[in-house]
Amino acid sequence: MQQAQPSRVQPMDGADYLRDILRAPVYEVAMTSPLQTMKRLSERFNNQVQLKREDRQPVHSFKLRGAHNMMAQLTEAQKKAGVIAASAGNHAQGVALSGSRLGVKATIVMPRTTPAIKVDAVRGFGGHVVLHGNNFDEAKGMAQQLADEHGYTFVPPFDHPQVIAGQGTIGLELVQQNGHLDYIFLPVGGGGIAAGVAVLIKQLMPNIKVIGVEAEDSACLRAALDAGFPVTLDRVGTFADGVAVKRIGDESFRLCQQYLDDSITVSSDAICAAVQDIFEDTRAISEPSGALALAGLKQYVEKHQLKDKQLAAVLSGANTNFHSLRYVSERAELGEKREGLLAVTIPEQTGAFFNFCQILGDRAVTEFNYRYGDDHLANIFVGVRLLGGQEELDNILRDLRQAGYPVEDLSDDEMAKVHVRYMIGGRPLANLSERLYSFEFPEYPGALLHFLQTLGTHWNISLFNYRNHGSDYGRVLCGFEIGDQDLLAFTAHLRELGYGWKDETSNPAYRFFLSKTTD
Ligand SMILES: Cc1ncc(COP(=O)(O)O)c(C=O)c1O
Repeated sequence: MQQAQPSRVQPMDGADYLRDILRAPVYEVAMTSPLQTMKRLSERFNNQVQLKREDRQPVHSFKLRGAHNMMAQLTEAQKKAGVIAASAGNHAQGVALSGSRLGVKATIVMPRTTPAIKVDAVRGFGGHVVLHGNNFDEAKGMAQQLADEHGYTFVPPFDHPQVIAGQGTIGLELVQQNGHLDYIFLPVGGGGIAAGVAVLIKQLMPNIKVIGVEAEDSACLRAALDAGFPVTLDRVGTFADGVAVKRIGDESFRLCQQYLDDSITVSSDAICAAVQDIFEDTRAISEPSGALALAGLKQYVEKHQLKDKQLAAVLSGANTNFHSLRYVSERAELGEKREGLLAVTIPEQTGAFFNFCQILGDRAVTEFNYRYGDDHLANIFVGVRLLGGQEELDNILRDLRQAGYPVEDLSDDEMAKVHVRYMIGGRPLANLSERLYSFEFPEYPGALLHFLQTLGTHWNISLFNYRNHGSDYGRVLCGFEIGDQDLLAFTAHLRELGYGWKDETSNPAYRFFLSKTTD
């Protein structure tokens, strides 16, 4: 296997990198990406917050800068033989596009499990795709084997001086676009972009603080800084898949250790909140790794109480899986402490549900799940929109406890957030004369309380599912204990409600999973 040779055997110093960054021919394929001011976030944080829009590159991420810088500098013989990379992500697209521009055959080995959308994207940029193995390591093994067999040059995703120098061109653009920056925040996966930008900034404007941001479940830079050398993490979370790297590169670590001012880690929920911030300010939809740097910026500003500073974060990519947005949207509110999740035990009796809601007052309820358990106590799962962050959540917990309700705060409970909230319910143990109804009502703060008020407390509620999806209408599924003799009075009351409703008692899904009998 041929490796493109680093320019010299001695480690390159800052001046070498500065020269190579200035010479990097990245604009043959990449653009100078805009540095956009985030108006809303700037006002909210009392700092000027700017976003470097690398999602605007032809491959919707910065990765083509590094890949192209290395590939453009191959010898004619190396170009003729072709290149190879192993990647299921943004690097693959960068190598493919650079290969087509340079007329170099680019083979990308991807695990067989790679989603078709990513395989198609690489093919669309002219890459020759080989699907092999069930994971990244197996794909990489095959890439090395093919490189040896065919004399291809291996293009690494981050740990190579020319790849690092290519990513460093982002730093050059940043200081040209805003010469008054105080802080720059960068995502860290294998450390290529952080190393390249940090070394460049420290050559030109060393007073600018450069901060690396990692996902807390794949913090290979943090681990290496603690150990003093790169270490391999046992496992990494894959939500921010662009930065799910087990071991930081040797060269990228050397530079990060020397040139970064600080490094921080952020949670998945904080990344989701940053995806939302980016959308609200720019209408761009970032991939999770793409929003990592901004999540770090927000956390850093709060922790260090920064004010009136000029801050930039790199939006590093937008190759998102559309369906992951559902998860992102659900978790964004938790990441901002704009939603609290609680498990509360209330007495199983008519009116108890209503009394409980009164304590929440006219706060917007985002979710309400309840299933009849036994004759005495009921456990409910409730989501509440918080305008006052953690302090408001603490107040709600205090009020509920003072009113005698046993309550657990589940807002930071990963298992509850991912699974349990969707598994509440099942068939009741006791025999119930239950009827099921679905309702639609206009969504506004206090809508749920008003709904319960209008319904009155004549009928015991035995099942309740409500989820506010941010749309104009809230949808509720509600079970009532109603004897046959009360049915007429009950339906007359429903008509008075004025909300859309439907009797779902004979719905097959209800019969299968929720009602006492399946016949
Ligand atoms: C969108 C995105 N952000 C950040 C990174 C991390 O870059 P690096 O591995 O150079 O640290 C990647 C890497 O592929 C990426 O695709």
